[in-house]
Parts: sequence; C-alpha cells; structure tokens
Amino acid sequence: MADISSTIEIPDARNIPRHIAIIMDGNGRWAKKRFLPRIAGHRRGVDNVRSTVRACAEKGVEFLTIFAFSSENWRRPPEEVSFLMQLFIVALEQEIAKLHANGIRFRAIGNLSRFEPRLTKLIADAEELTRDNKRLALTVAVNYGGRWDLIQGVSRMLKCNPQLANGFAETDLLPYLSMSYAPEPDLFIRTGGEQRISNFLLWQIAYTELYFTDTLWPDFDATEFELALASYQRRERRFGRTSEQLQEATGEEATNALSGNA
Ligand code: IPE
Ligand code: IPE
Ligand code: MG
Repeated sequence: MADISSTIEIPDARNIPRHIAIIMDGNGRWAKKRFLPRIAGHRRGVDNVRSTVRACAEKGVEFLTIFAFSSENWRRPPEEVSFLMQLFIVALEQEIAKLHANGIRFRAIGNLSRFEPRLTKLIADAEELTRDNKRLALTVAVNYGGRWDLIQGVSRMLKCNPQLANGFAETDLLPYLSMSYAPEPDLFIRTGGEQRISNFLLWQIAYTELYFTDTLWPDFDATEFELALASYQRRERRFGRTSEQLQEATGEEATNALSGNA
C-alpha cells in the first residue's frame, strides 16, 4: 500500500486519517506576542509536539509527519539556527525513551549530511531503538525540502537502475522518495495563518486534504486538533470521480452489509 500513489490507486475512505502531516508554524509570533524571545516559542512548540503525538496515538492515526526545520530555515539568524539544533538534540535525548515506551516508531527525513555528528548519531540510535514499534510512526522532517526529496529520489533511482534514464513511471520512483514507507498524507495541517506549502512534502500531498488555521503552533491544543479532524471528516475525497459515483459506491456497501455480502 505504502508504495502506491493516490493518482494510481484510491485509498480506502476512513473517518480517522491514516497519515497526518503538519507544518508547525507560528512559534516566533507566539513568543513575540508575549514579549519573549523567539526561542521561548520554539520551546513551547516542542511541548506541543508531545501532546499532538499523544492525541494522534489515541485517535488511531498511524503516521504523523511534522516539519521541524526546512532546507530554507538555514537562512535564519545563526543564533536561532543553532538554538533549534540544540533543541532538537535535547528533545531527542529527553523524549526517545518515552516514545519507545509508548510504542512509537521514530524516523527523521531530510538531508542529514549537514548536521553535527552528535545529532546524526542520536537520530540513528533513536531510529534503531524504535524500529519494531507499531503504534504510531512519527516522522520528523529536518533540513527537509520537497524539491530536495524529488531530486535525491530520482538520482538514487537512476543510480540503481541506469536503464530508466530513457523513461520511468511513478511506481519506479516511489521506493526512492524519503517517505516510501508511508501512505500519502490524508490530512495536511498548517498552523500560524500562512496558506502555503513552504517546500514541505510536494509529491506526497497531490491528493491530501489541506487544512489551514490561524492558531499559532504553541496554541494548537486538543480542541484545535478536533476541529482539524472534524473539517477532514466533512470533506468528500473524490480522487477524480464524481459525487454520484461515490454515493453509489457507499449505497452498494450498505446493501452488501445488510445482506451479509460485505
Ligand atoms: C515554526 O515557527 C518553527 C520553525 C520554522 C522552526 P516560526 O519560527 O516560523 O514562527 P513564526 O512564523 O516566525 O511565527
Ligand atoms: C515552515 O515554516 C517550516 C517549518 C515549520 C519547519 P517557515 O516559517 O519557515 O515558513 P515560511 O518561510 O514562512 O514559508
Ligand atoms: Mg514561520
């Protein structure tokens, strides 16, 4: 399933999204409103990751992917960049045992080659420790860019299969993209009021339901999460088909269930 694209195969309709992807934006503005330094907002942002992971696990979401640092975020002032790196290190050190105890599998995606060895080692250890966990797969995108992902994917694909230089299909590329292990996100959430993708998952959100909220990330609590889910549940995911086709299919399912043919 994970390797199949939503433009090739239609995923099952579900009330609870299997995969949620979040751009956690608005930490800086949250701090500014309180006359605090931006880094105070990032600290609160990490607390919020903890509660969001818990909420997703409780709801039965299978994959949660969060954008922690984009390939463009290197453009920020060096002090903020280094604070974010330190915060990531500390958060990993403090949280990984708890994540593991709660059955959560951790993965990082992005170009990790630019990170200090201490961080890459922490990431590798955390991935190894949690590799057999099945409850929720948490992916943190760090130094990630959707365009980087496509380029690295195509490059690796061609290196392994030089004959594909003459032409290739979606299914040839999929195994080489960073998130090949996960179904495409069903729901994308961006907090902080901006309505843009900012080079997050580009390929994978072709048919994802998009949800934008003005709420700043540190304020995105359980009630806000419910609002996002409720919005998702009101959507009609047509994947190119008509509304009538969907209703017919649901009607048939109901009839089959009643006559025991389900
Ligand atoms: C998101 O919050 C966190 C990161 C990009 C690391 P911001 O730091 O972008 O907060 P705003 O957008 O300035 O409020
Ligand atoms: C996107 O937020 C990246 C992360 C949340 C990590 P930004 O705040 O960096 O996005 P732009 O640059 O305003 O679009
Ligand atoms: Mg921002």
